[in-house]
Amino acid sequence: METPTQLPKIYADAKDFMPLNGTDYLELYVGNSRQAAHYYQTAFGFQPLAYSGLATGNRETESYVVVQDKIRLVLTSPLKSGTEVGKHIDMHGDGVRVVALWVDDATYAYNTAVEKGAKSFLEPYTTEDENGKVVRSGIHTYGETVHIFVERKDYQGVFLPGFEAWEPNYRPSSIGLKYVDHMVGNVELGRMNEWVDFYRNVLGFTQIISFDDKDISTEYTALMSKVVSNGNGRIKFPINEPAEGRKKSQIEEYLDFYEGAGVQHIAVATDDIISTVKELTARGVEFLRVPHTYYDTVTDRVGKIDEDIAPLRELGILVDRDDEGYLLQIFTKPIEPRPTMFFEIIQRKGATSFGKGNFKALFEAIEREQELRGTL
Ligand code: FE2
Repeated sequence: METPTQLPKIYADAKDFMPLNGTDYLELYVGNSRQAAHYYQTAFGFQPLAYSGLATGNRETESYVVVQDKIRLVLTSPLKSGTEVGKHIDMHGDGVRVVALWVDDATYAYNTAVEKGAKSFLEPYTTEDENGKVVRSGIHTYGETVHIFVERKDYQGVFLPGFEAWEPNYRPSSIGLKYVDHMVGNVELGRMNEWVDFYRNVLGFTQIISFDDKDISTEYTALMSKVVSNGNGRIKFPINEPAEGRKKSQIEEYLDFYEGAGVQHIAVATDDIISTVKELTARGVEFLRVPHTYYDTVTDRVGKIDEDIAPLRELGILVDRDDEGYLLQIFTKPIEPRPTMFFEIIQRKGATSFGKGNFKALFEAIEREQELRGTL
């Protein structure tokens, strides 16, 4: 699934021995896939796409696939006790298990990754139905998260073999989400560089940005972050690790509650953040709020922007600028009982960075939430 962004020069030194077309899908293991699908339809405007479960002869798991433009989410629950899916949910709560990468050759991708040091998760195998065939293979990444390589050039079906079209009558309108802009992993203290090296060596990514605790710290907490990107810039993975602070950092809080490393947030792009966030808010999605005073100085900090400040202030949308332009972004509160995964909504107007200028205001907002949770 490609992102329609121009390729900045900075990606040019990624070693492209591992051509990736984009993110194919994200699979979340969840306690109740049916209700989760309803939530992503109702609250986030995803459209029904495909189903696998008892009705398709699958007696192990039930999965709903929902789609919005180029973003595909697979929501999977177990149909009985003692399964891998169930154990994952018991340990981590709802969360991302699979980050699937779209490739032209899943056997080559697997062999190359394993040769370069990746731990095998799934040897290449082919599944077929009347719509063609799909080759899949997989490797482990941080925590219990895995990457599955999906080769679908010989497949015309709705999603994957084993899935049928899901065509319910209930179809809330989409809200303008377009593609996965970036996806962030939280890893254990001291292990950020190891995972940056993993993406470099195994998948040929290049490091494009790094932040240290001087960039990202408040009175209480700090974190370190490095961003890696694949060669064509369509896949960007910031990797965070906690840094020493006076109190528990949000990254430590995540690691404690997720019981290990995992996906912290999925940033999804829109072309009209004001209308997207208005709609999300109306549909009950809750966002982190920064103090209103943030908006008193925002134009001093970022200069002139196309949008009026009033709706940004009202909705809580943040603005940041880099050398190439500006961006607008906002973060949801965690979307499950544990304070773990959340979404970011982002609109880029030239900027290729991640909103560093907002980190301090944001982290202070997160700390206020942590205070309420009693986990700071
Ligand atoms: Fe982000």
